[in-house]
Amino acid sequence: MRMYDLIMKKRNGFALTTEEIDFMVKEYTAGSIPDYQMSAMMMAVYFQGMTGEETAALTMAMAHSGDMLDLSAIDGIKVDKHSTGGVGDKTSIALTPMVAACGIKIAKMSGRGLGHTGGTIDKLESFQGFTTGISSVQFMKQVNDIGISIMGQTLDIAPADKKLYALRDVTATVDNLSLIASSIMSKKLASGADAIVLDVKTGSGAFMKKEEDAFALAKEMVMLGNHAGRKTIAVVTDMDQPLGLAVGNALEVKEAIETLQGKGPQDFVKLCMTLGAQMLIAGGRAENEAQAEAMLAGVIEDGSALGKLAEFVKAQGGDAAAVYDTSLLPKASIVEEILSEEEGYLEKLVCDEVGICALLLGGGRETKESEIDLSVGLVLHKKAGDYVKKGESLASIHANDAGKLAAAKERFLKACFFGESKPVQSSFIRGIVR
Ligand code: URA
Repeated sequence: MRMYDLIMKKRNGFALTTEEIDFMVKEYTAGSIPDYQMSAMMMAVYFQGMTGEETAALTMAMAHSGDMLDLSAIDGIKVDKHSTGGVGDKTSIALTPMVAACGIKIAKMSGRGLGHTGGTIDKLESFQGFTTGISSVQFMKQVNDIGISIMGQTLDIAPADKKLYALRDVTATVDNLSLIASSIMSKKLASGADAIVLDVKTGSGAFMKKEEDAFALAKEMVMLGNHAGRKTIAVVTDMDQPLGLAVGNALEVKEAIETLQGKGPQDFVKLCMTLGAQMLIAGGRAENEAQAEAMLAGVIEDGSALGKLAEFVKAQGGDAAAVYDTSLLPKASIVEEILSEEEGYLEKLVCDEVGICALLLGGGRETKESEIDLSVGLVLHKKAGDYVKKGESLASIHANDAGKLAAAKERFLKACFFGESKPVQSSFIRGIVR
């Protein structure tokens, strides 16, 4: 088999066989197919697309290119959750203890943030001493003992995707549905859970800006998961503005804790309830959404979800006292209000721009090696649809450097668009794909 022939076949609009895809992924991972040939193939896929069979073959080949985590040593149904990413997305920190408190086993691998979106591991490191650098033996034991563990991606999960994603990133071939779906699902399948609940974001802060594209991606990923024998459900949700009110690592952890205390912002609570209900149903703990949501509300009300977060933080070396006293989380030295220079309805709050403000403050990574400041970020006081008076505070900005604060403030004000009439708001949960 020659890569040249495969590129030509795809370029001319024909479907590749499973055998051809397996060959291509294996040889590319081993380094015997050069980047320039794979770049040409990615561009051919970008223009010609892939059939469902090709996408499934690519997903399985990438999933099997490295370690396949075997979670069978953990009793019960393991349910994973994955978000396609966004600004202020602290969902895993509140949702996983909620679901674990309801009896579902959470064995999750998470990543760090890059660019304007944050990563769960960085956020969790706001608890002093917390580590995700644990062995897979400790990971399994902790899930069996307390029902929840989150580890960093220390195992060699889907190395073919790692290599291919880096190539797509620099060859303008990221935004293709088959390539995104196979990239995400290869990692999820290799991570070993029995059931997967996907949060597919749509809007200005998401990969899929258009709702119809987000639904198409959701359907493709559900098909891929089910094809591989994992129960998979996708929820399509809004990312046209930041999720909740807090953006920035420790600030988001504080908001997740407040949510577990029953004081979370409306959109974030809704998201946790919706995703959590699907996780409880997929894990066989609840028969329907009403029953699942009642269970989730119960573990918030009786404090057991908050207690589960404390147990989890402590088990991974973190300072669990901060769960009950958020003043122990990292704090910025300067807190300043951003006052509105205009009056009217906040029509739009450009989502990725708000993420970039947190990045400018030092809360995100420009490169994989960058150090991040866990204490900085923004807390919104107004969201799209709210009426704002001139001089009213739009957000509090948390910073450690006056120059960075000024740059972020200027950028934030440019991300706010005002109008005279109340904008029509789309529903936050756009739909569920089973
Ligand atoms: N996230 C991934 O892991 N892969 C993609 O291709 C896009 C988003």
